[in-house]
Amino acid sequence: MTSGLPPGITLGEGRGGLPRLSVATARCTAEVYLHGAHLCHWQPRGHPHPVLWMSRESRFEPGAPIRGGVPVCFPWFGANAGAPAAPPHGIARLNAWALDRVEVERDGSAVIVLSLASDAGTRAAAPHDFALTYAMRLGDTLSLALTVANPGDGPFTFEEALHTYFAVSDVRHVAVEGLAGATFVDKTAGGTRKPQDGAVITISGETDRLYLNTPAAITLADPGFGRRIHVAKSGSLASVVWNPWIAKSRAMPDFGDDEWPGMICIETANAADHAVTLPPGASHSMTAAIALS
Ligand code: BG6
Repeated sequence: MTSGLPPGITLGEGRGGLPRLSVATARCTAEVYLHGAHLCHWQPRGHPHPVLWMSRESRFEPGAPIRGGVPVCFPWFGANAGAPAAPPHGIARLNAWALDRVEVERDGSAVIVLSLASDAGTRAAAPHDFALTYAMRLGDTLSLALTVANPGDGPFTFEEALHTYFAVSDVRHVAVEGLAGATFVDKTAGGTRKPQDGAVITISGETDRLYLNTPAAITLADPGFGRRIHVAKSGSLASVVWNPWIAKSRAMPDFGDDEWPGMICIETANAADHAVTLPPGASHSMTAAIALS
């Protein structure tokens, strides 16, 4: 759908000439690119800071990932172990999605539904057929629901993540709560598995951790911005905490050298031990509900 959008939502040309939905309702402002079904901005009215972080160096090009916001990782997370040349984090963030539905609800929340189905192009990198539906509800709170259906005639195993980049006052002064006692895969230590000892996670160096068996909500406390960001989820057993710190930021061309203090990723995921296997005809939904206090 490209016409008949409700008041408060427009479809226009965004950065790099890519199609972008702009939302300005009584509840929030937001921006969604059809490329990657990428939510780049969400800010409830009355809140002084955007909730999502975007890199000023991000590319906005067909076939390239956007740096910041909420990339959708699918059907694998990180490197593809079976195909090292395949693009990291899969192909969902590299393709243009279809816009299926746009509404503004009575309370002013915007609902945007996008979809991506496998085709000859996706099969070249990711052989299995799939049908993805991604529903966003953008209001005072943010709800994201990614549904994966298996239209094929055999089982389909995949990984996925809502790779949410949060804007923070200074990553060295925030705390991540809700992962105490969990085991994490430490990607900065060759994938070693470690226990999370402290009750909260603080960041004092490169951090790249995949927390296992973590269905519960996570809170990001940011005293500098005077806010707490709550991430509740369903259908997700893995949680990723990522900050590239100094050297890795410098190594990434689409990430400003000095931008690392302003962001932290807390990702709602199913990956590693928690890859999902769908029988033919089945579907699976993963949701993230993000609220501020
Ligand atoms: C995180 C991974 O989710 O994404 C990191 O755990 C990775 O290992 C980061 O570096 C960014 O990935 P990319 O492909 O967007 O540069």
